[in-house]
Amino acid sequence: MTSNPFTTHTWQIAASILSADFARLGAEVDDVLAGGADFLHLDVMDGHFVPNISFGPTVTAATKRATSAYLDAHLMISQPLRYAEAMVKAGAHNVTFHVEVVDDPAAAARAIRQLGCHVGITLNPATPVERLWPALDLVDVVLVMSVVPGFSGQKFMPEALAKVKEVRKRLRPDQRLEIDGGINAQTIALAVDAGVDWFVVASAIFDQPVRREAIARLRQAMDRGSHVPDARG
Ligand code: DX5
Ligand code: ZN
Repeated sequence: MTSNPFTTHTWQIAASILSADFARLGAEVDDVLAGGADFLHLDVMDGHFVPNISFGPTVTAATKRATSAYLDAHLMISQPLRYAEAMVKAGAHNVTFHVEVVDDPAAAARAIRQLGCHVGITLNPATPVERLWPALDLVDVVLVMSVVPGFSGQKFMPEALAKVKEVRKRLRPDQRLEIDGGINAQTIALAVDAGVDWFVVASAIFDQPVRREAIARLRQAMDRGSHVPDARG
């Protein structure tokens, strides 16, 4: 069941496989999706834009073979336009690029859309939110980083919430706002209140003994946030 997350305005939990056991990738993916995750987030790292190397199209294709779930690729790489097509061919449904690595974010968004996928744009905690504006109308997703990208298991940076609110004011109803980094049962309610639609979670799902219970705790915490998805300005 491919769950296209654009067909709903309800909050979506994207499980980041960065914290999965890659020796058992298929079983890990099945476990978190059966346990209630809405779709998968794939963190692609090149050891250049970020100080870590994760995986690329090969593991994306393996994930695709393991599931029909929506695959949300987050390219933490210096040359997103060089690899976006390979990611789409491997099965990515959305390709998110970092604004820091492109000269012309609007052109980058258009180029990725031509591949037939959804398009996302993201920015590091140190990057001013205004850098997004030239491409804002051309993307499907805005991803606000709430940690310095590179590793799972880092502490949530509350400064991200101000950026979330700035972006939320400017998005159309067909666009989605995603947050990534340090999301757990405490921080998720803050993100809900700020107006986030999609929550990327690695360690607070994969590092927990019973993933179904971890996801249920996240959903309970979400519901304690006061944000009402339909009441958007
Ligand atoms: C960070 C990645 C995140 C990461 C989140 O560089 O982009 O997607 O996997 O990990 P947690 O949820 O553990 O902060
Ligand atoms: Zn990510």
